[in-house]
Amino acid sequence: MSERGGIFAGDDPFEIARAWLAEAKASEPNDPNAIALSTVDADGLPNARMVLLKDIEDGAFVFYTNYGSAKAREIEAAGKAAFVLHWKSLRRQIRVRGLTEREEGEKADAYFKSRSLKSRLGAWASRQSEPLDSRTALMAEVATVTARLGPNPPRPPFWGGIRIVPTEIEFWADGAFRLHDRFRWRRDGTGAEWEIQRLNP
Ligand SMILES: Cc1cc2nc3c(=O)[nH]c(=O)nc-3n(C[C@H](O)[C@H](O)[C@H](O)COP(=O)(O)O)c2cc1C
Repeated sequence: MSERGGIFAGDDPFEIARAWLAEAKASEPNDPNAIALSTVDADGLPNARMVLLKDIEDGAFVFYTNYGSAKAREIEAAGKAAFVLHWKSLRRQIRVRGLTEREEGEKADAYFKSRSLKSRLGAWASRQSEPLDSRTALMAEVATVTARLGPNPPRPPFWGGIRIVPTEIEFWADGAFRLHDRFRWRRDGTGAEWEIQRLNP
């Protein structure tokens, strides 16, 4: 492994990801933590949508969602997911592939509590990814849960975090003449040693 320094320095890919995200927070106009999350359905047909990356911790990338949603059901059936982070101003991307598990303990409770009351009630009211008759029906459901749960709703049992524990992380940075820099961290299982390689652009 040669010539890996600067923004790619260090052997811990989570530290590099945290450092790049911190830089992106300073340079991107909005949602620097938005990730394009990819799953596969029962027929093997890929699916993608944006979600917000909320934590990089304990060896995992964590986002929050409704466990009844299409994405969560696809993830739970496959036990796997992938995502890409792209920063247009920094001209960098991070790609992650890995195995998934739920984050539904105290950390999920704490994150839920940190959200605005309207967002917390919205999480209770929305049967995410299910057909909806009208916006009026959704607002009626919001009114119902507001009356039922009051000003301090608990985290819904159907809502929480999903941890993606990577087996592969690639860091990509724009280079002159499309000769971009790519470095991939890869391991056989989530506890195994990382193998680090430079890749052709
Ligand atoms: C920038 C952005 C951030 C989003 N963040 C989240 C999120 O953190 N969690 C979530 O469940 N949906 C989020 N969404 C909505 C999802 O893209 C998607 O519409 C929704 O989760 C339903 O997806 P599904 O039917 O594939 O499960 C976000 C959308 C955008 C555009």
